[in-house]
Amino acid sequence: MSTAQKLLRDDLREFAGYPSARSQAVQGEVWLNANESPEAALTDACGALRRYPDPQPQSLRRALASLYGVDANHLLVTRGSDEGIDLLLRAFCAPGRGAIVTAPPVFGMYAVCARLHATRVVEVPARDNESGLHSDLDAMAEAALRERARLVFVCNPGNPTGEAIPAVAIKTLAERLRGKALLVVDAAYAEFADTDDCVALLDATDNVVILRTLSKAHALAAARIGSVIAAPEVIAMLQRCQAPYPLAQPAVEAALSALAPDALARTRRAAGQVRDERERLRQRLQGVAGVRRVYPSQGNFLLVRFRDAQAAFDALLAAGIVVRDMRATPGLQDALRISIGTPEQNTRVVSILAGARQAA
Ligand SMILES: Cc1ncc(COP(=O)(O)O)c(C=O)c1O
Repeated sequence: MSTAQKLLRDDLREFAGYPSARSQAVQGEVWLNANESPEAALTDACGALRRYPDPQPQSLRRALASLYGVDANHLLVTRGSDEGIDLLLRAFCAPGRGAIVTAPPVFGMYAVCARLHATRVVEVPARDNESGLHSDLDAMAEAALRERARLVFVCNPGNPTGEAIPAVAIKTLAERLRGKALLVVDAAYAEFADTDDCVALLDATDNVVILRTLSKAHALAAARIGSVIAAPEVIAMLQRCQAPYPLAQPAVEAALSALAPDALARTRRAAGQVRDERERLRQRLQGVAGVRRVYPSQGNFLLVRFRDAQAAFDALLAAGIVVRDMRATPGLQDALRISIGTPEQNTRVVSILAGARQAA
């Protein structure tokens, strides 16, 4: 029995999900089976919005699968990776029972989705040493096995840590968890990393689930298009827990345009520029007097500790620049997270922080 079959909620084993009108494999010319309007809205020039969208448009599924180098049956298109996280909780953790493992400081939605599901969050704090903030994968494995966690979330590259976890370490963790837990690798920022090879993990064991998104490098955050990549049986389990029509048609069209060859070439160039700017900003921030530490980052952001984070935040805000205040996060009471902007924006950030030196 595969890891996913063992872990699927008992009460969902016979659950087929909602049989939406669009999921039925029937052909016809006049569609009177979904209580849609017979006329297009006045503002809907091409009439494409009158009907419910395809729950999993094959064209988009195939384009995303080709982008990530997997077969289409290994991929579920979701309403952003946020929905992927939620579906994993729904399918594998019975409400009020079970646990997940996370390595804070980390993206907050794993804990939020768990909380909404009354699932326990077992936190294994990342270790802070001279080379950066690092998830403690050994301790995460031990916690997962001890607490019988069903899902272990690894954010790679890490948000906000910026860490990159070597594929071999993730593979070892997956092998330790095999048969006991699914290992979810959130690769939202993989396009900005030195290596983007997490998909190879799928061949290693049956318990790896990868999350990808068009929100970051592909500049489509408002379209809400994410992907869950996993064994086909995991994809089928998650799809049964998904809303009937998760993907709005205009978002599907925006995603397809963003996946055309010329758009992809532009995305790669833009990600390259972000990487260059990340290094330039990191070096320049290290020279600013009020800056205590700039963590290495494989994402499109830098985590920065300040002597006076409030003064730094206020100085940037006074100039109209909003950065992420991390000070409520345990262990990051002096930190801000700064997304990499355009070269001009990054230069402004440095000169404002350098000017705020006296206060900071
Ligand atoms: C690590 C990580 N995963 C997932 C997401 C959410 O991505 P999406 O926009 O696809 O829901 C974010 C957003 O900031 C993130 O930082």
